[in-house]
This record gives sequence, structure tokens and C-alpha cells, in this order.
Amino acid sequence: MITSLVDIAGDFPILKRQVNGHRLTYLDSAATSQKPSIVIDRVREYYETSNANVLRSVHTLAEESTVAMEEAREKIARFIHANSSREVIFTRGTTESLNTVARAWGDKFLEAGDEIVLSPMEHHSNLIPWQQLAKRTKASLRYIDLNRDGTVSVDAVKQQITGRTRIVTLSAVSNVLGTINPIAAVAKLAHEVGAIMVVDGAQSVPHQPTDVQNWGIDFLAFSGHKMLGPTGIGILWGKEALLEAADPVIFGGEMIAYVDREDATWAELPAKFEGGTPHIAGAIGLGAAVDYLNSIGMSRVEEHSRELAEEAYRRLANISGVTVYGPPYPRTSVVAFNLSGIHPHDVSQVFDARGIAIRAGHHCAQPLMHWLDVGSTARASFYLYNSAQDIETLVDAIEATKRYFKR
Ligand SMILES: Cc1ncc(COP(=O)(O)O)c(C=O)c1O
Repeated sequence: MITSLVDIAGDFPILKRQVNGHRLTYLDSAATSQKPSIVIDRVREYYETSNANVLRSVHTLAEESTVAMEEAREKIARFIHANSSREVIFTRGTTESLNTVARAWGDKFLEAGDEIVLSPMEHHSNLIPWQQLAKRTKASLRYIDLNRDGTVSVDAVKQQITGRTRIVTLSAVSNVLGTINPIAAVAKLAHEVGAIMVVDGAQSVPHQPTDVQNWGIDFLAFSGHKMLGPTGIGILWGKEALLEAADPVIFGGEMIAYVDREDATWAELPAKFEGGTPHIAGAIGLGAAVDYLNSIGMSRVEEHSRELAEEAYRRLANISGVTVYGPPYPRTSVVAFNLSGIHPHDVSQVFDARGIAIRAGHHCAQPLMHWLDVGSTARASFYLYNSAQDIETLVDAIEATKRYFKR
């Protein structure tokens, strides 16, 4: 029975909305989460009281703005157990963070013949940057064989790691299968051959406690908008020594120490990787989101996301004509499925008419769709404001969709 977190939906103004004459049932949080009032209010308060550019001017508003942004950075550093906030770089999101690692570290340290190990379940954001890096450096990609249920075994990773492996990268949680990957064990394998471990945390950081030290990883990328924060803000965390060794990729204001006509030197971390005016309000809003998540407790959030995903899997797998992808458990937050003979876009449209938001498509994971042998799937994804009632609504909608297309 799902009992946790039932009163939280009231903190999210959008969930009071009616869509097409029905109470909104929002099951698309893996695409982006909704925002609690505390985040919306904090962003508004920032613009109404302290708006100014950071790090540049010496006046009260600029100082308030800088302090607020740096406080947010500190909160995020504690949230993921970074050694210091110098290791926390503001980016636009997971995509930009992963591209930054590929450019900043990969371009500098990879050579022809080196290898990058990754899985076929990766989101395109954790795939194309490595494809492009491999093309630029004449390195090659080696793909981990997935188990039949879509999970990753440490043995399968071991088979792809060689003396030439320089980067191992994996999502901590799959955005399609909801599987939870063995990050700490894989990081250990990577380090045994001197490779770095890069983690796509887009679907894990919102749903479970994150400890980059316990994982023993080198880089972590995640997005603020999937964890109750604003869009356009994300994080690249990296070990300080690796960030120091890597080269900046965005050149311009804020990221320099000294500039003359011919050359320039770089600012200290994290500014070295934050060229240009950052998304100040976004960073501050993300700090408020972290406060909100901490006030609930990430262990409770984790339990809730798992309970909902596992219960939804059980319910959907029992409906005739429904295929659910990935293992029944352990899983978290997302459940991808198909209805026999009905295109996921049609499913999504019937759902929308009932006020239910899901995602339909390839989920930016086309190699995984090929592996599953489907063109696309429907996907329901859950977060802390969802309840057992939403699963009932989902099940009813599936039955209604089947009836509708049978007519
Ligand atoms: C696993 C995973 N990685 C990366 C991304 C990309 O995130 P963003 O679009 O916020 O950069 C997503 C977004 O859906 C995701 O689910």
C-alpha cells in the first residue's frame, strides 16, 4: 500500500488545474517535474528584490544576488556530498553538463585508439557527446550488453573494459526502463584501468539520496527542472583535480583571470567553466527546490518513487494487451508500456482528453528502442506529488483506451 507523502500535492499550484474538464493527473515528471510554491515564490522574490548581475558590480543588489547564488551552490554541494562547492558548476542542464565533460576533459585527454564504454540504454544526451568525442579523437565506443530484462550486470561491464578504456559512462536510472544501475561497482571497475566514471544523474538525483563520494565517481550531470527547480539550470559536478586539469569550453566574461590582446588565463573553479552571465534566478530557484526536497527527506522520496513505479508495473502487467518494459523490481519513477495494436501517440491523446499527461515517443533513447524492438512507447512517470489514486486513474484510462479503439 502506498501511504507516504499523500499531502504534498497541495504544495504544487498547477496540480489544482483542470485539463479538458478533468483534474490534472500529471504523469510526465521524467520529462520535467512540477514546481512547488516555495520555488516559484523564491524566483519571484529574487526578481522583485535583489535582481542584479553576479560577480561584476560592487553595489548592494549585486552583492545580494551573488550571495544568493553562491548559497544555492553550497546547498547543492551538500545535497550530493561534494567535497566543496568549487566542484559544482552551473550549466543549462544534464545535456550541457555531459557535453562539457566530453569537450573539457575528453578532448584534452583522449587519443586515437582509446575506448569509451557506455550502455545502449543511454539518453541521447549521454550518447551523442561521446559519439562526437570518439569521432574527433579517433577513439571508439564499446557498448555493454544488457540483460534480457534491461538491467546492467557488473560482469557485462567488465567484458567491455580493457586497458584502453579511458571513460566509462552510465545513467544511474534509465529514463525508459526505470532500472537502477550499479554505479559504485562500475566506477570501481573503471578506476582499476585508470578510466574516469561519468554518471548521468538526470533521473536519479531527483529520486534518491546522492552521494558522489560513496559512488566513487568522477563526474555527475543532472538537471534542475526534473527535481522541482526551474528550467534552464543544471549541474555538472566533477572532482576538483579533474576540473582543474580540464580546459574550459565556453570562453568570454566571468571565466577569466587575466586577458591581454593575444591570450588569457582562467579564473579559479567553478567560474572557469561558467563563461557569461549565469541563470542566476534558476540557480536560486534550484537551491529552494533542494531545501524543499531536504525538508521531506530524500529517503522518503526514494521510497515513494519506488513504491509507485513498482505498483504501477504490477497493475499494468496484469492488463491483457499491455506490455511493460524493464524488470518488475527494483525500479523507480518510470513505467514504459505499449498497448497492443495502438500507437503510443494515440494512447497519449486519449489520456489527454481525460486530463492525464504522459509521454509517448522514443524518449530520446533510440538505440534502446531498437534493443526493445519497438519504435516508441508510452511512459508514465511519477514523483513525490503522485499518489495511489493516480495509478487507478492510469489503469482506468488504459481500459478506456482499449475500449475506444475496439469500437
Ligand atoms: C537520463 C536522462 N539523461 C539526460 C536527459 C537530458 O536532460 P536535459 O534535457 O534536462 O538536459 C534526460 C531528460 O529527459 C534524461 O532522462
